Amino acid sequence: MNLRKGAKVWVEDKNLAWVAAEITDFRGKQVQLQTATGKTVLALPEKLCLRDADEEEEHGGVDDMTKLTYLNEPGVLYNLERRYALNDIYTYTGSILIAVNPFTKLPHLYNVHMMEQYRGAPFGELSPHVFAVADVSYRAMMNEGRSQSILVSGESGAGKTETTKLIMQYLTFVGGRAAGDDRTVEQQVLESNPLLEAFGNARTVRNDNSSRFGKFVEIQFDANGRISGAAIRTYLLERSRVVQITDPERNYHCFYQLCASGKDAEKYKLGHPSHFYYLNQSKTYELEGVSSAEEYMKTRRAMDIVGISHEDQEAIFRTLAAILHLGNIEFSPGREHDSSVIKDQKSTFHMQMAADLFRCDVNLLLATLSTRTIQTREGSIVKALDCNAAMASRDALAKTVYARLFDW
Ligand SMILES: Nc1ncnc2c1ncn2[C@@H]1O[C@H](COP(=O)(O)OP(=O)(O)O)[C@@H](O)[C@H]1O
Ligand SMILES: [Mg+2]
Repeated sequence: MNLRKGAKVWVEDKNLAWVAAEITDFRGKQVQLQTATGKTVLALPEKLCLRDADEEEEHGGVDDMTKLTYLNEPGVLYNLERRYALNDIYTYTGSILIAVNPFTKLPHLYNVHMMEQYRGAPFGELSPHVFAVADVSYRAMMNEGRSQSILVSGESGAGKTETTKLIMQYLTFVGGRAAGDDRTVEQQVLESNPLLEAFGNARTVRNDNSSRFGKFVEIQFDANGRISGAAIRTYLLERSRVVQITDPERNYHCFYQLCASGKDAEKYKLGHPSHFYYLNQSKTYELEGVSSAEEYMKTRRAMDIVGISHEDQEAIFRTLAAILHLGNIEFSPGREHDSSVIKDQKSTFHMQMAADLFRCDVNLLLATLSTRTIQTREGSIVKALDCNAAMASRDALAKTVYARLFDW
C-alpha cells in the first residue's frame, strides 16, 4: 500500500467498525492518524484501507460499487450507509444487486408505474432495483430460449422472502395475460406465498415473519413469454418448532390463525393459544399490526385460489387442531415399572379430541404413544414407555404429522 502523509484511509474502530482518517505522521512501524471523529490514533499500516477522495463522496453514494476507486469493506459499507440514508436501498456491484432491508414500507418503489419503467429498460440505465434484475432474466430467457435463475441470499431478516415476492410480482406483471383474460395462473403463483407463509413462517427473535424452510420457486413460461405454470419445492422445514418454542418466538402462524378463527376454532374445541402447550411455552401470542383472525381469512382465500377443495381445507385445519390437542396430553408413571398412564381427566379429554380429529381409534392412539413395539426374530414384543419417553413419542408424532402436512 502506498501510504504518504495526507493519504485518506479507513481505520478500524471499536464502536463504528470503521472510521475515516487521514495520515498525519509516521512513528516507527506505525502511522499516526487524525480521525474524522477528531481523535489522534496510531495504527499498523497493514490494518488500514485506502479511502475514496472526499469529492466523490459529496453526492449520495454511487449506484454501482465498481465505480468506487477502492473497493474494500469499509468503502462498500460506507457507500451502502449513505445510500440507505436517502432510502436508496438498492446498489449494484456489476450485475449483482445488493438490497438493504428498509424495515419500512416503500410503496412508491414497487407500484405498477415502476414495473412499467423497468420493463425492457437496459440494465444499469435506471436506478438499481430488484425489478431490473427480474427484467434482465426475463429478457435473457426470451432471447436465448433458456431457463434462467435468480439466487437470493442473505442472513435471517435480510429481506430474502420479500425480495423473492417482488421478483414474482414483477414476473407475473410482464408474463401476465392481457387485461380481461383469465388471470388465475398468475394469481395462483402469487397466492402461493401467503399460504406457504401461514404454514412455514413463524416469529423469531430477528424476524416476525421468518421462513423456517428453504424454497425453490419455478415459474414456467410458454413460447410467447406468458406464465403457463409454477412449481414450488420446499426444503427442510424446521420441525422442532411445532413442539418447542421459547419467548419471544412463536410457533407457525397457522396455529394462531386457527385459534382466532371463531366458529372453526369452536368446532375443534380450541380456544386462546394460552390453553395449548405447543403455543404457551412462549407468552408471545400476537404479532404487532397483525390480526390472526384476518390472516385466517386470507389463508382460506389463498387456499381457494390455489385450488384446494373445501373438503381438503377442512382436513388441513382439523389436523392442525389435532396437533394442538395432542400436545396437551400428559402422562404420569404407571403401576408397573417404566410404564405410563394418561395423567388426568384433562389429558383424557385432549386425547379423545386428538383421536376424533385424526379420525383414529383412541385406544390405538394411546397405545402408539405409551408403548413401543420391538421386532425380534421370534415376533414382536410390546414394551411400555415411561412418562418421558411417552411425551417424546407424542412430540415425534406431532412433528411428523405437521411436516407431512406441510409437504403435502
Ligand atoms: N423491500 C422491502 N421493503 C419493505 N420491507 C421489507 C423489505 N424487505 C424486507 N422487509 C421487512 O423485513 C422483514 C424481514 O424480511 P424477510 O424477507 O422476511 O427476511 P428473510 O426472508 O431474509 O429472513 C419483512 O417482514 C419486512 O417487514
Ligand atoms: Mg425468509
